[in-house]
Parts: sequence; C-alpha cells; structure tokens
Amino acid sequence: MGWNSWNTFACNVSEKLIKEMADAMVNSGMKAAGYEYIVIDDCWQTGRDKEGNILADPERFPSGMKALSDYVHSRGLKFGLYICGGDKTCGGRPGSMGYEFQDARSYAKWEIDYIKVDWCNHGALNAEGSYTTMRDALYAAGRPILLSICEWGSTKPWEWGAKVGHMWRTTPDILNCWDCEINWWGSGWTKILDKQVGLEKYAGPGHWNDPDMLQVGNDGLTETESKSHFTMWCMLAAPLIAGNDLRTMPATIKDILTNKDVIAIDQDPLGQQGFRYFIIDGIEIWVKPLQNGDVALCFFNRTNELKVLSKNWNQYEITDVNNGGKKIELKDNMIIHDVWANKDLGTLQNKIKATIPPHDVLLVRLKIK
Ligand code: GLA
Repeated sequence: MGWNSWNTFACNVSEKLIKEMADAMVNSGMKAAGYEYIVIDDCWQTGRDKEGNILADPERFPSGMKALSDYVHSRGLKFGLYICGGDKTCGGRPGSMGYEFQDARSYAKWEIDYIKVDWCNHGALNAEGSYTTMRDALYAAGRPILLSICEWGSTKPWEWGAKVGHMWRTTPDILNCWDCEINWWGSGWTKILDKQVGLEKYAGPGHWNDPDMLQVGNDGLTETESKSHFTMWCMLAAPLIAGNDLRTMPATIKDILTNKDVIAIDQDPLGQQGFRYFIIDGIEIWVKPLQNGDVALCFFNRTNELKVLSKNWNQYEITDVNNGGKKIELKDNMIIHDVWANKDLGTLQNKIKATIPPHDVLLVRLKIK
C-alpha cells in the first residue's frame, strides 16, 4: 500500500512535492490506515556522471535522493523510485539497461525500499531475463527492496514473476475514466478489471498481480465510480497504490481510501485474489474467500440503471477457482455485514436485499458466527 506520483503529476515531480505528499500521507490518516510507500514515478532522473552513476535532476531534487529518502523515512514511511529496464524510460530519461548492478548500488546507498521497473525502449531484451538481472543486481546491492515489475502483461509475467519480483503489472496503463480506451496503451478501470479474470491463481502472499495504480479521487471518475474502483481492487487483493493528490483530497475520497474494513478484505492474510462468479442482469458477482472462513461477496452494478437485489444465497454452491473447484460453504447462520454501510443485514437464512445505484457496489462480508 502506498502512493505514486504518475497518475496525477506525470513528469511534474520535485522534492518539494514528495515531501508534502509524505506529510499528507501521515496527516490525512492514510499512514494509519496502512499506506506505507511513497514512490516517485518517471522523470526524476536526468543523466549520468563521468563514472556512469545515475543522477537525479539537480533542479527538481536539489538536496539529492539520499536526503529525500531520509525525510520520507523520518515520517515513518518507505521510499520508492521508478526506473526502466530499457535504455531510456518511457519519458525519455536514462534507463538501466547495462547499468543494472551500478544503479542498484546507488539505490541501496540512497536507502530506497521499492523499485518499479518499466519496459519502454527495451530493444531485443527478453523480459524475464532483464527483470531477473535487475533482481540479481538488487540482491547483490544487499538492501531488501520490493521489486515491482511493469512490463504491462506483455509476456505473461504472472507465469514467471513470482520468482523474480513481488508484483507484476497485468495490463497497459489505467486511465482516469470508467471505460474509455486509447489504443493498446491505456484504458479505464472497468476494462482493466475485465483483464484480471483468469489470473487469480497466480497471486498470493509475496507475489501479486498488479492491475495498476488507483485512479480513486481523480477527475474523470464520479465519487461512486471511485468507490466501486477501490472496492474491486480490494476484491482483487491488488496492491493499493493511491494516485491522487493527498494534500487536497476531499473527506469523501479520504474516507474511501482509508476504510479499514474494505482494506481488511484487500489485505486479508489468506491472500486470495477474488474471482468473478457470475453476471446476471448487468450485475457482476465477485467472490473472495477470507482467512477465517468468512467470504467477501461484491455485487457490482455495471449498468446505468438502479438495480434491486433480492435473493437467497444459502442455496448456491460457489466453487473456488483458486482451489481446484473446492466448494465455498455459505452457511445459513452467516451474518451478512454491509461493509460500506457498516451494518449487519441479518443472516443468510434471509435474502440479501439491496438497491444498487448505477456503477455502484454492494460489498458484504459473510461472517462466520
Ligand atoms: C508507463 C507505465 C506507467 C508510468 C509511465 C511513466 O506507461 O506503465 O505506469 O510509469 O510509463 O512514463
């Protein structure tokens, strides 16, 4: 869980911005809710010195990366940087191709905790090979660093990523819209969501599918769409990397990003990615088994109409796609807890009844008594 500069600030990053964001992460209650990493995305780097050492932009980061890292750590947070496995980053800055071991030593010296490795300008490089080189370089540098693989799902990183890094992007870029699409390169969050179906079994503790950073709170999404986006990322057990301006977010958005019961579903220790069980009348029903036998059920209204739910759930057999089709037990005496409303709706002996506005969700935690 953390924050990354790209979705709101793109190349407009500076030491002032990052310090303010670290302060805002603490002061807003995001840190207390579990957010931990502050990550600078593309454009912090400008060149290399005579010995080939990577250099931060001296105008935007006049105190240098070690001082900024110290500042972020002094706020009780961890610090991350974006780099690229090709010879230039997507924003045209120096990449790490051929400099992996030397760069890893700089990151360890700066006490970096998280590295996101992008994939622009990689030429003839093989993805698994290149990311493995960076993994080995980070090991050799001797500092524990989270490795976030960002090759956009192009070589099925879910098949090799667990050996190489801690999380891997499954798709090209998320855009701040419901379902827009720009060529291959970017799409709205519901389209990104569809691309997660089938990848459930590859995720688990320490090795996660990454459906990209959150657009929660950004222009282009309604508040309801931000809420359903956040909910679905939690159902996916996704890394929760906020991408909005934490300094100015309204209380409504802060309340979405810091809801502890929704976050608990994302961070559940079982670490199972939820799956889409059924689609009926435009409502998607997603299921995420939780550690103590509880089950998260999410009803996602993808239509533009209000939908009324009224169904008995104790009669359904749900098979778990992550566990070889094992049956998920829904017992009569399970309590139906509406997570966003924070209220119990009776037990599964009764119907689950709700009206779900367009683009909204009903998220329930079925609790073992
Ligand atoms: C790629 C990545 C994005 C972002 C930009 C930066 O598009 O997928 O997440 O890091 O590069 O240029």
